[in-house]
Amino acid sequence: MTPWILLECTQVPGNGGELRLYKHGEDFSIKIVGRGELMNSRKHGSEDALAEMTCQRLKGCANPRLLIGGLGMGFTLAAALQHVGEQGQVVVAELVPDVVSWNRGPLGECAGQPLNDPRAIVREGDVADIIKTEQLVYDAILLDVDNGPEGLTRRQNNWLYSVDGLKAAHSALRPGGVLAVWSAGPADDFLRRLRRLEFEVEQVRVRAHGKKGTWHTIWFARRK
Ligand SMILES: C[S@@+](CC[C@H](N)C(=O)[O-])C[C@H]1O[C@@H](n2cnc3c(N)ncnc32)[C@H](O)[C@@H]1O
Repeated sequence: MTPWILLECTQVPGNGGELRLYKHGEDFSIKIVGRGELMNSRKHGSEDALAEMTCQRLKGCANPRLLIGGLGMGFTLAAALQHVGEQGQVVVAELVPDVVSWNRGPLGECAGQPLNDPRAIVREGDVADIIKTEQLVYDAILLDVDNGPEGLTRRQNNWLYSVDGLKAAHSALRPGGVLAVWSAGPADDFLRRLRRLEFEVEQVRVRAHGKKGTWHTIWFARRK
């Protein structure tokens, strides 16, 4: 049996613990020590769908500007670049600087080196800092930084899913813009919170791997 090989370790800024990059044959896995797997290169159907289905909801929007948090293995970024058109732009915020380095190194091939695309702009840091400070800037904000609307990577990420975080995301979007949030499963409290704000909300179930695998959840919340 092919063993999992530990390639790299790094710290998540803000006392988030340790992130590890493993390789198993052609497959990669990013894990947070003591909390489980954050991303695996074998199953990225729902990470692709996060971008594809967001872009479907932006039909009619010329040259969309997207914000993605975080980079992971680059699948959501690569899928977004396929759909934003030649003049579109995708800003990707990644909290862990080494994750960006891994994507420029061994991980880059997984998603076809999306960081080399001139339409991709990588910003090392917390996506929350961008959401807090920029207003009316994005046609879509795509969040896949934890395994759902709960701070798995680090506790501070809970702000993103709070009423304050959602209001800030609303302000960072242009009118009609879409906030999309990936989750391993449904989260009724989060859905209720979204529905109480000035968003039109859809909850969609997506397979982890093509037509197979477990079901993941994506919320699309359009700014009214
Ligand atoms: C589940 S992975 C993303 C997977 C990605 N959608 C893909 O297609 O590979 C989560 C990523 O978000 C990053 N992250 C976690 N919290 C963040 C934050 N507050 N701001 C930016 N990036 C963050 C993690 O370091 C990790 O790289």
